[in-house]
Amino acid sequence: MDRDEELGLIREIIGLAERKSAWLDADVAHSPISRYSSPERYERERAMILRRLPIAAARSDDLTGPRSFRTMRLSGLPILMTRGDDGVARVFLNVCRHRGARLERADNGCKRIFTCPYHGWSWTNDGALRAVPQEKQGFPDLPRAERGLRRLPSAEAHGFIWIVADPDMSDIPDIDAWLGPLAKDFDWLELSEHGTAVTEEFEISANWKVLVEGGLEAYHFRVAHAATIAPYFPDNLSTYRVFGTHIRSVLPRITLPDLTDKPEEDWAIRRDANILYSLMATTQLLVQQDHIVWIRMDPLSEGRTAVRLSTLVPKDGAGTADQREHWERNHEITRVTLMEDFTLGEEIQSGFASRGNPSHLFGRFEGALNRFNLQVEELIAG
Ligand code: FES
Ligand SMILES: [Fe+2]
Repeated sequence: MDRDEELGLIREIIGLAERKSAWLDADVAHSPISRYSSPERYERERAMILRRLPIAAARSDDLTGPRSFRTMRLSGLPILMTRGDDGVARVFLNVCRHRGARLERADNGCKRIFTCPYHGWSWTNDGALRAVPQEKQGFPDLPRAERGLRRLPSAEAHGFIWIVADPDMSDIPDIDAWLGPLAKDFDWLELSEHGTAVTEEFEISANWKVLVEGGLEAYHFRVAHAATIAPYFPDNLSTYRVFGTHIRSVLPRITLPDLTDKPEEDWAIRRDANILYSLMATTQLLVQQDHIVWIRMDPLSEGRTAVRLSTLVPKDGAGTADQREHWERNHEITRVTLMEDFTLGEEIQSGFASRGNPSHLFGRFEGALNRFNLQVEELIAG
């Protein structure tokens, strides 16, 4: 974001604080619970959103150098990421093209040739078929070019490897064009200059949208986070803006309204507010004072979501034992706080079966949740 936008956002929050109000939408809104609990609805989201839009799948430096590789499961697909001698990151289905065995079993490592553990077919790390044992006898006239590894569209941008989780899609959108005006924010954050200090994965029994919604309002801070972060944030004060299908929420700290006593040249939004970037569909970046939390959600079903939580820190600030301890402490605070949200999410999900509510209600200061759901509706309608 540029300086004018930063100052504009701070002024907006100060204005809201003076009026003792969060940003208010015109009306309350209803969100039918079938959005979160119906398997058919989930299948539609998977086809129209989760398998179509770019996902921040890994950090660029998860593939440390030429010939490094990494495997993972994402969007229900077994994935093999490689970096070639040409430095290019490529993403494939981790599936043998002979009879479908898992090609690479290790989580990560360094290799140029991948050999299937079943009958020994092998591929180079750019996906080309290299060798087939007893080929002449068994597979005369094998169309080798057609037996390369199935590739997923991918791109590297802002320190992430982005993928579209569908091998039938031929291309990934240009990431900066897809981010729109937020690309400028991501430059400002210097995401490429960040490394991963701590990362962990876990599964939550809740619909992915329930988890996204948990990050889009500050109404719950005072109650749900009473034991953790609530003292650092004013009650129910936030603002948001929609950028295409993405949302940027600004969650001011309790110190922000005091900036009125300081000259504008001393204002810095990251010091006095958290910023949450919620990219459609499952990439969230929670920008804190000196680090950025990357939340990667991987929906597994209508009621279950795998979450990967990574604390990204400036590359020049990750070295000493003191620094590592600082990041680990911060990661722990984030984990405990998010678990408060995720536990609520699991309780909400398990309540759907009771039919206690035909729909959820979004207050005027929860408008970002409605906007998010309307975007999802539009996308699944095609
Ligand atoms: S299944 Fe991989 S070589 Fe046969
Ligand atoms: Fe929360």
